[in-house]
Amino acid sequence: MITVRPVTADDDAAWLQLRRALWPEGSEAEHREEIERFFARGAREPAAVLLALEGGRAIGLAELSIRACAEGCRTDRVAYLEGWFVAAEARGRGVGRALTDAAEEWGRLQGCRELASDAEADNDASAAAHRALGFTEVGLVRCFRKDL
Ligand SMILES: CC(C)(COP(=O)(O)OP(=O)(O)OC[C@H]1O[C@@H](n2cnc3c(N)ncnc32)[C@H](O)[C@@H]1OP(=O)(O)O)[C@@H](O)C(=O)NCCC(=O)NCCS
Repeated sequence: MITVRPVTADDDAAWLQLRRALWPEGSEAEHREEIERFFARGAREPAAVLLALEGGRAIGLAELSIRACAEGCRTDRVAYLEGWFVAAEARGRGVGRALTDAAEEWGRLQGCRELASDAEADNDASAAAHRALGFTEVGLVRCFRKDL
């Protein structure tokens, strides 16, 4: 059975492992620092972290925030799926759906009327999963930077 619940301080190792799998470009030290800041309540983001568990093992996560504006959204307090990940061996069995269901519930409890998310342009699997879960694609963005 799959359950979804907010992360607790005892989940730090499991959360770290899932985070590193989702965002391998970040160093272990950076992830650890963000996790510690979250539990110390010093982080503005994420606002909430949900873990999916099966038989006591963490197999997925959703990191959530509230954004004042999000692409294609009409409201100024948008629940935002900042991170969404299911361990490779657990995919295709409804874990991702259980996480977004819980994310929607969290967003409603925060008074939000929209849930938004994003994916890399070439992440076709994520795009398909978003569509299957009722998201509408609202744009494709290119990002730039410049030294100042
Ligand atoms: C995206 C991800 C979280 C989905 O998790 P999951 O547990 O496999 O999702 P589910 O099994 O709950 O599927 C949810 C819906 O999406 C669909 N779906 C999931 N993966 C799909 C895929 N690769 N292609 C097409 N549809 C897919 C499912 O069919 C299901 O729809 P249905 O209920 O109508 O059948 C998971 O694939 C993942 O972690 N990917 C790597 C990280 C990533 O890309 N995260 C998103 C970054 S924005």
